[in-house]
Amino acid sequence: MDLVAQELLLMCLMLLLLCREPGVSAQAGQEFRLQQPQAKVTVEAGETLTLNCTTSGLAGPGPVMWLKGWGRVNKTVYDQEKQDPSSRVTRAVDKSDTDFTIHIRNVQPEDMGTYYCVKFVKGNTGDDEVFQHGRGTEVSVQAKPSPPLVSGPEQRARPGQSVPFTCTTGGFFPGETGVKWFKNENPMAGQPPQIAKWRMNTYNMSSRATVTLQKDDVLSQLLCEVQHSTLPSPLRGSYRLSRVLRVPPSIEVRAEPSPIEVNKTVTFTCLVKEFYPADVSVSWLENGIEIKVENVSRPSELPQRLFELRSQVEVQASEEKNGSTITCMVVHDAQAPAGNSTFLWISNPAQGTLSNGLQMAKGDNLLSSLVLLWMAILLEKGLLGGLLFFLFKRMKRKALEMLSCPAPPQSPAPGAASQGLATASSDV
Ligand SMILES: *[C@@H]1O[C@H](CO)[C@@H](O)[C@H](O)[C@H]1NC(C)=O
Ligand SMILES: *[C@@H]1O[C@H](CO)[C@@H](O)[C@H](O)[C@H]1NC(C)=O
Ligand SMILES: *[C@@H]1O[C@H](CO)[C@@H](O)[C@H](O)[C@H]1NC(C)=O
Ligand SMILES: *[C@@H]1O[C@H](CO)[C@@H](O)[C@H](O)[C@H]1NC(C)=O
Ligand SMILES: *[C@@H]1O[C@H](CO)[C@@H](O)[C@H](O)[C@H]1NC(C)=O
Ligand SMILES: *[C@@H]1O[C@H](CO)[C@@H](O)[C@H](O)[C@H]1NC(C)=O
Ligand SMILES: *[C@@H]1O[C@H](CO)[C@@H](O)[C@H](O)[C@H]1NC(C)=O
Repeated sequence: MDLVAQELLLMCLMLLLLCREPGVSAQAGQEFRLQQPQAKVTVEAGETLTLNCTTSGLAGPGPVMWLKGWGRVNKTVYDQEKQDPSSRVTRAVDKSDTDFTIHIRNVQPEDMGTYYCVKFVKGNTGDDEVFQHGRGTEVSVQAKPSPPLVSGPEQRARPGQSVPFTCTTGGFFPGETGVKWFKNENPMAGQPPQIAKWRMNTYNMSSRATVTLQKDDVLSQLLCEVQHSTLPSPLRGSYRLSRVLRVPPSIEVRAEPSPIEVNKTVTFTCLVKEFYPADVSVSWLENGIEIKVENVSRPSELPQRLFELRSQVEVQASEEKNGSTITCMVVHDAQAPAGNSTFLWISNPAQGTLSNGLQMAKGDNLLSSLVLLWMAILLEKGLLGGLLFFLFKRMKRKALEMLSCPAPPQSPAPGAASQGLATASSDV
């Protein structure tokens, strides 16, 4: 009997246990389980984030929610009972009572944080109270850096000057990045990147590099290459050095022919050589007074992408213009005017073309010494001419005496000849 009674008691207890379980769990939720399996999720900005949460068992009435953050700083991301159709958040399995996995569209760096799946039940006061929650999923959003931007100085600089450039990019996460600088594909030195927090959960970066400009840099290009963990290949930003380069022209003035015979036309040529950018204006001055020039030529491009310009002006060589200064004035790229000069020399009619071919020197420094040289040469030639003239005169007279002919009208002593003729006529 004892044994039977014991067996019955055991059976009753077992039955009791078996029968009680579901009823109790429905009321008190002992069997309710909430699973939030992901501890950490990494997602690219702009992509869709999936946060998994499943429940099993039953619990009292009350919503399942997703919260971002815990404690005082938390935000409701999803509420089973209050669904916003415009929200970026959707359910993976719509209206499911067990799968509370959510998708968050177009994730941004500011979405970074820890997300909790929470089951609430209505408390005695009627408010929702936390019943059970998951371990939390730490979400980190990786963001690509924006395309690098290279900036240079506001003002143009000449060859030989050192010019700073800055490469900037922003909006990336995590906050580590590498920068490389290149000039025409050749690596060059740059400062290590300066990284700073920028907006919500992202970083920006700037790196500086200095370039010493060269005359042939019109065709050069700077490259800034940014590496980041989110990038399969580096991003590049470029900068054309022609944007910042100013190559001032060299100015050469020539007079042709020089010296010139009186009343003939002399052509002055101004060669404005190898400049950049093309913006140039040329004017001519005669003793500081502007000469009107109709024919204004345009700059022509050289193979190295530098420009050159030839300006010509014609001047009538009147006697009073002898020694005039002819200046070619060049205003390049709104800079202070620069110029070079030459002189208008009129040959002495007595010497004619003897002095042809000797060119006046350009450049003010050389000038005075060359003028002296020029005058010395003229003097020398003048003396030489006089000597020849004298000898010729004597030879002619000798010849005339021998032939006993009257002197020709073009004789160097016309006065004597006409006197002779006059006496002859009076004799007749
Ligand atoms: C997350 O939930 C989705 C939708 O229910 C499922 O397809 C996926 O396998 C789950 N992933 C994990 C890691 O549990
Ligand atoms: C969320 O924040 C509110 C307001 O600060 C607070 O009352 C509530 O207890 C917080 N909830 C959790 C789960 O931390
Ligand atoms: C980051 O961006 C801010 C705002 O545009 C700027 O003030 C700051 O200088 C930048 N920092 C770096 C390191 O580029
Ligand atoms: C002017 O000419 C001289 C002599 O040819 C030259 O040395 C100088 O550089 C020129 N000046 C300019 C501004 O080109
Ligand atoms: C040059 O021209 C002027 C004016 O036309 C004239 O008086 C002068 O005789 C000319 N001189 C020569 C050398 O032809
Ligand atoms: C301008 O100069 C060029 C070359 O020197 C010449 O060919 C052209 O005929 C000139 N034009 C005028 C209007 O003088
Ligand atoms: C012009 O000036 C030069 C130098 O002073 C002189 O040698 C030359 O004879 C002058 N020409 C005339 C036509 O006077």
